[in-house]
Amino acid sequence: MKLTLVDKPIDEISADFEVILVVDKNLEHKFIKDSDKFELLNYKGDTNLLLLESKRLYIGIKKLESDQIRKALASAYNTLKVYNITNFKVASYLGECTTKSYMALAEGLYLGSYEFNKYKSEKKKYTLKEIFISSSEFSGKTINLQKAQNGLKFGKIIADATNYAKDGVNEIPEIYTPQKMASEAEILAAGYDSVECEIYDEEFLQEQNMNAFLAVNRSSVHPPRLIHLVYKPDGEAKKRVVFVGKGLTYDSGGLSLKPSDYMLTMKCDKSGALAAMGIIKGAAELELPFEIHAVIGATENMIGGNSYKPDDVLISRSGVTIEVRNTDAEGRLVLADCLSWAQELKPDLLIDMATLTGACVVGLGEFTIGLLGNNEEFKLEYKKVTKASGELMSVLEFNDYLRELIKSNIADVSNTASSRYGGTTTAGLFLDKFIKDEYKDRWLHLDIAGPAYLEKAWGYNQIGATGAGVRANLYYLYNLAKES
Ligand code: BES
Ligand code: ZN
Ligand code: ZN
Repeated sequence: MKLTLVDKPIDEISADFEVILVVDKNLEHKFIKDSDKFELLNYKGDTNLLLLESKRLYIGIKKLESDQIRKALASAYNTLKVYNITNFKVASYLGECTTKSYMALAEGLYLGSYEFNKYKSEKKKYTLKEIFISSSEFSGKTINLQKAQNGLKFGKIIADATNYAKDGVNEIPEIYTPQKMASEAEILAAGYDSVECEIYDEEFLQEQNMNAFLAVNRSSVHPPRLIHLVYKPDGEAKKRVVFVGKGLTYDSGGLSLKPSDYMLTMKCDKSGALAAMGIIKGAAELELPFEIHAVIGATENMIGGNSYKPDDVLISRSGVTIEVRNTDAEGRLVLADCLSWAQELKPDLLIDMATLTGACVVGLGEFTIGLLGNNEEFKLEYKKVTKASGELMSVLEFNDYLRELIKSNIADVSNTASSRYGGTTTAGLFLDKFIKDEYKDRWLHLDIAGPAYLEKAWGYNQIGATGAGVRANLYYLYNLAKES
């Protein structure tokens, strides 16, 4: 699909359909042409109104801000795609920032039109192929065409990176094994001169004493992989940012087996890994001025005679010993060893992403990422800067009472807490055990268990994977690039 900026007033562009945004129920702005019909149709400006005869679609939005623009464009595309039209036009609606408004337009369109139809014998074909954006602006501002073009370009890159992550997460566990993830990472790297990929196998994990990671893999027929992608910019990098992703290609729970209803959707347990891969793709295309790493622990958590067991004690890479009390708390074990390895890259910023706890979904709801770490300022700054991405974040806080709950009688730490409450924070505190003092304040943990995978569509997200974490981090890095 093509998104074209046309430097012409909206009425001079010929198109099959016109989309008009109704902002804050303002039913009389200059692009509106059907005011006379609104009363009869009982249209108040807060929903969609499709006028097939006049070939106009009105979309009510509350406010001119990035996420509302995304939702509007996604809704416009999905409403109109079923008709036999090839294009539609829409004017420019600028919010607080020109580039960000156009980014949002492009993201809404490319995220909203995503479909995973690989396994459908009959694939729907739409004739709608092009969207024209007129330079006519809603509140009368003159458009900076260069900024507008850049916004559309960046927005498409960010949406493509997100859709790339969705494709990987939506792929079935039979196909998307740790080896497949590794080969996909190699293919990703081969596409960019600036990206390199190194794959490490079981032998390497043994040499590195990554026994927590290895234990999780033990009863899987698929060998584990440690995947390391690096994007390096032209010239000197301003910072080194390391992302660590949980890459559980399937989480059955292991011997602490999940009930069937909870096992379903657990192909999504690789969402952190795919987010990290998507970020590398986006960073390479945005040509960000940072060295960016993705460190991914890829394995399945299966069940069998060789399974690791509740009661086992694992000696992790860092030397911290872990009492296993529940084999379904496997993500933190894989991350413990990956975080330990990742710190040897000497990151300026260290961010892990994981579908880590069901408690995060219970506590924050399905729409929100849990944001944890030791550095209160960093968390607040990160939340503020990533707001424009549309990804929702709630900051959670560590405390010493919760820290008590992961103490073990037999080892240095237990992989589950002794209380049912505060499960997302205690999981974060477990990870904190593997963060060295010098990195404590530069580390963030993103629990993406809620928004990573949907059983019901919302906003511009379809059922299935959403690519959670990709946009927030690319927005964060994009902003950091402007600042530094
Ligand atoms: N992968 C799950 C967490 C999860 C739940 C992700 C729902 C996405 C949606 C994780 O490995 C897990 O099973 N966690 C356990 C931890 C518990 C045993 C301490 C959980 O949340 O129940
Ligand atoms: Zn689990
Ligand atoms: Zn898991």
